[in-house]
Amino acid sequence: MKLEIYRFNPEVDDKPYMQSFEVPIEKPGMKLLDALNYIKWHLDGSLTYRRSCGEGVCGSDGMNINGVNGLGCITPIEGLKQPIKVRPLPNMPVTRDLVVDMEHFFDQYKQIKPWLQSNTPRPEHERLQSPAERAELDGSYECVLCGCCTTSCPSWWWNGDRFLGPAALLQANRWLKDSRDDAAGERLDMLEDSFKLYRCHQIMNCMEACPKDLNPTKAINDIKRALVKRKV
Ligand code: SF4
Ligand code: SF4
Ligand code: FES
Repeated sequence: MKLEIYRFNPEVDDKPYMQSFEVPIEKPGMKLLDALNYIKWHLDGSLTYRRSCGEGVCGSDGMNINGVNGLGCITPIEGLKQPIKVRPLPNMPVTRDLVVDMEHFFDQYKQIKPWLQSNTPRPEHERLQSPAERAELDGSYECVLCGCCTTSCPSWWWNGDRFLGPAALLQANRWLKDSRDDAAGERLDMLEDSFKLYRCHQIMNCMEACPKDLNPTKAINDIKRALVKRKV
């Protein structure tokens, strides 16, 4: 199989370039990450990319594959148009090859205070939820913070300094929906902002890009509805 991979080492390269590789199909069901590992281990040890779990859980190998963001470890190579063009996540500062600087992305995640804020004393064991309350978190808790949605969002490309982006907003909605959390008022106060939330123009690239089949657009709409609801 043929691949073309984005290469850029700021220490030696004046500008980025695409490098071609030929990789054998070693096993049925081979994933794109397997092909990158083959290149690194057998053809060019300098190829740089992030990965850890290999199972779509850690979120570290978000990349742009034939123009679509996804996780290398769960993207089957079978069916991908060749040469498979692999680039870093779009609109992100490239540290080296497929590794991008995620600092701003995680700073925005921190802004939504992604932890439980409760007014009740800490229980001896755990804070319980009913099955229905727990089910409210479905569609949010599965997010692996890979950044595929946020880096595919045109509104975030243009206003990423102030628009929180779909991943952080999906997580904000996760805490708004958590029956154990008592900070909904403060959370909504923070989100009620023409840039942080309302720069989403419902283009829905985020939903299409999510490798975990989540729907950040719906989460953003849920937050907007919660803001309207508290006014009436
Ligand atoms: S729906 Fe909103 S958050 Fe998602 S890609 Fe479009 S503008 Fe961005
Ligand atoms: S919502 Fe999906 S695409 Fe966005 S960060 Fe979470 S897992 Fe990745
Ligand atoms: S390596 Fe962990 S999600 Fe792909």
